[in-house]
Amino acid sequence: MTTSRPTTHRIAPSILSADFARLGAEVSDVIAAGADWIHFDVMDNHYVPNLTFGPMVCEALKPHAKTPDGQPVPIDVHLMIQPVDALAAAFAKAGADYISFHPDASPHVHRSIQAIRAAGCKPGLVFNPAASLEVLDWTLDEIDLVLIMSVNPGFGGQSFIDSALRKIERVRQRIDASGRDIRLEVDGGIKADNIARVAAAGADTFVAGSAIFNAPDYRTVIDTMRANLAG
Ligand code: DX5
Ligand code: ZN
Repeated sequence: MTTSRPTTHRIAPSILSADFARLGAEVSDVIAAGADWIHFDVMDNHYVPNLTFGPMVCEALKPHAKTPDGQPVPIDVHLMIQPVDALAAAFAKAGADYISFHPDASPHVHRSIQAIRAAGCKPGLVFNPAASLEVLDWTLDEIDLVLIMSVNPGFGGQSFIDSALRKIERVRQRIDASGRDIRLEVDGGIKADNIARVAAAGADTFVAGSAIFNAPDYRTVIDTMRANLAG
């Protein structure tokens, strides 16, 4: 079944590039500047060669994940960890809304997805630049988000890998054919000047770390991204 629905774009700043000495204020500030989601990059120095933050930090930031008038803003947890299940459960308790993991990091992908859903969160699968999409043949009906990596995971500030565009196109076809409401998110090297190209390939949700947090004014960047998406 093919459906067409109006695209609602979401901009998800990654706090990987925020000032870690004042994370709560950074979350509040970037939401006040127009962020739709907060992207939370969890790295374990095992699945990826870097180490960031865990569920305790997520729990501490949860009260900051709301708009100035008190509306909740989704926390989008991207797990770059192996194994997946124990920490996914901890993030569900810590207030995560979406929890995504790399299928190659779990020996039982379907079970991990079900566990995330049973814990009350929206499950997602993440695909590295060289990862095949085949697992989606068996899991697309179970998930709420597909996250395409347009850099190799582990670090912010890398350059966008163009082959991600072809992969986004293929995932868009699969999602449309499924008829399900599944977010198609892209992560890595997103800037105001390439976001429209990524949207044209079929993405609807855009992670941006360095492009937003390394800029002097978050609102200017987010507004420019939205204008480029609209135009
Ligand atoms: C990379 C992370 C990204 C990263 C994106 O492993 O998953 O979310 O923060 O950073 P930029 O936008 O700087 O490429
Ligand atoms: Zn990420």
